Amino acid sequence: MCGIVGYTGERGTVDVLLEGLSRLEYRGYDSAGVSVIDGDHIALRKKGGKLAVLRASLEDAPLPASATGIGHTRWATHGGPTDENAHPHVGDDGRLSLIHNGIIENFAELRAELEAAGEAFASETDTEAAAKLLGRAYRETGDLTAAMRQVVGRLHGQFTLLAMHAEQPGVVVGASHNSPLLVGYGEGEHFLGSDVSAFVKFTPNAAALDNDQIVTITRDSASVTDFDGNAVEPKRFEVSWDASAAEKGGWNSFMAKEISEGPEAVENTMRGRLADSHVELDLGALDDEALRSIDRIVIVACGTANYSGLVGKYAIETWARVPVEVDLAHEFRYRDPVLDERTLVISISQSGETMDTKMAVQHAKAQGARTLSICNTQGATIPRESEAVLYTHAGPEVAVASTKAFLAQVIGQLLFGLHLARVRGTMADEAIAEVVAEMRELPAELRQVLAEQEAVHELAHWMADSRSVLFLGRHVGYPVALEGALKLKEISYIHAEGFAGGELKHGPIALIEPGQVVFVVVPSPRNEPLLHSKIVSNIQEIRARGARVIVVAEAGDAAVLPYADVVLRVPLTLPMLEPVLQVVPLHIFALELATAKGLDVDQPRNLAKSVTVE
Ligand code: F6R
Repeated sequence: MCGIVGYTGERGTVDVLLEGLSRLEYRGYDSAGVSVIDGDHIALRKKGGKLAVLRASLEDAPLPASATGIGHTRWATHGGPTDENAHPHVGDDGRLSLIHNGIIENFAELRAELEAAGEAFASETDTEAAAKLLGRAYRETGDLTAAMRQVVGRLHGQFTLLAMHAEQPGVVVGASHNSPLLVGYGEGEHFLGSDVSAFVKFTPNAAALDNDQIVTITRDSASVTDFDGNAVEPKRFEVSWDASAAEKGGWNSFMAKEISEGPEAVENTMRGRLADSHVELDLGALDDEALRSIDRIVIVACGTANYSGLVGKYAIETWARVPVEVDLAHEFRYRDPVLDERTLVISISQSGETMDTKMAVQHAKAQGARTLSICNTQGATIPRESEAVLYTHAGPEVAVASTKAFLAQVIGQLLFGLHLARVRGTMADEAIAEVVAEMRELPAELRQVLAEQEAVHELAHWMADSRSVLFLGRHVGYPVALEGALKLKEISYIHAEGFAGGELKHGPIALIEPGQVVFVVVPSPRNEPLLHSKIVSNIQEIRARGARVIVVAEAGDAAVLPYADVVLRVPLTLPMLEPVLQVVPLHIFALELATAKGLDVDQPRNLAKSVTVE
């Protein structure tokens, strides 16, 4: 986890670093720190707590003006979130400073060796060992890039490191091993960051380092080599995000803003991919022939992205008649899955940096499987590691709890399912055209759902003291139930579980006691009369045991009325498209309830948006 930013140039360095850190705080917010070169030494400030604590300290006592600096926001791994454990850490008697994202697995061994050699440590972190090691390597080589090359060979684990040395003002050196690092190219200035959001306010011109590369930036240059020192030319790209898209813009929280951006997330993800009556995707190496040759799909993802994959499974299997499994990425990579060149592994990730998902993709590739990434972040590691990528265009998602990205992930898979069905000839043209026509309606329908959420607001206030909430769904409503539960526990800290309706009598019904609130995601009776009647039976079963039932149901569904305490309405759409509309009241409910409890909805405790360690 952790966010890192580096800068050389003529702007106010500390301001640039703080701006970058504010964009990266989603990667961890246990502590933050910045350092700049000040004459013959490093000036440094670091604080436990959120970025605001550091900012206040810098306002009280600013650091000196400087043309070179690095900054860090931390999600604690080794050592608690204290001032001492915050980054940057120093080496070479305070002349060098270093920040780190990742985990250095052999730090205990390195620390013992360095302590035996007389180095004194001030923190409990794994990072400080790298700072001391780099300081010693610098004394040997007299060059920070050469010193970095020496040090990376001694570290085990995964890391991005940024460092600077007072004897080399105007230089920041970065190294990346299984952890992201991007370069931002400006006029007379250069940036480094964990992702493009660290510098997109200043420049859209970026390049992502590949694995095991070192970059040295100065005001006028950015040179990249591999770990052996061979020059490399990174592939540059232009970031299409508008920097203001990652600003709150009058909303109380990023989460509220991002929920409101659902219609655009869906619209933008479909843009250019819907032909008159079918879907057209350019998947590069995964051309039509490749898609016809696969006989199985495995979707790998974590958390919300995984739930979107469960929706994708229903759609892709139904439309393209290919068996689809959905796996948690961390389970997949440790269970020796059966894979070959006829298996397509689809990874889904908003950030494109989730360590478990990335490792799952690497495992799939090593077994000869084909790989497709569905990702929201340009230049991220997972799409770069994959054979093909289908970008979702939800725009930057800052709130830790994923909302609009879930909608875009579902859309991405619906597009892929329709594309695959056409290529494999498993669906009639008219049937594809019908889905495409309905998909075009989704943005407007989402706007309608967003405009009609008064009942959800009232409900959330009424339920602010709840201790447990259950969610029930069937078919594609089941992942929606899982997602509703995850969102609620994540930001309101209320116990919440999602169940498949059919599973109720196999155990979960024992949890029902008078007053227990259960949300039930109901499929449209017009689309799926059988499933609808089954879930109405489930509702009756829990009502008979005293549950209070809140139903998410299609606008015309009168059959649920006698059994529901509250009904939240969504417009009628096709079965596979229902989750896109049904999930929105659940996202809003979680947001409103956490807000009613006075919690920080954007930065819930113990979490970080991008889980870049195991
Ligand atoms: C929940 C949430 C997480 C992420 C998961 C995967 O609201 O945001 O469960 O969905 O950590 O993250 P990505 O999609 O970045 O791989």
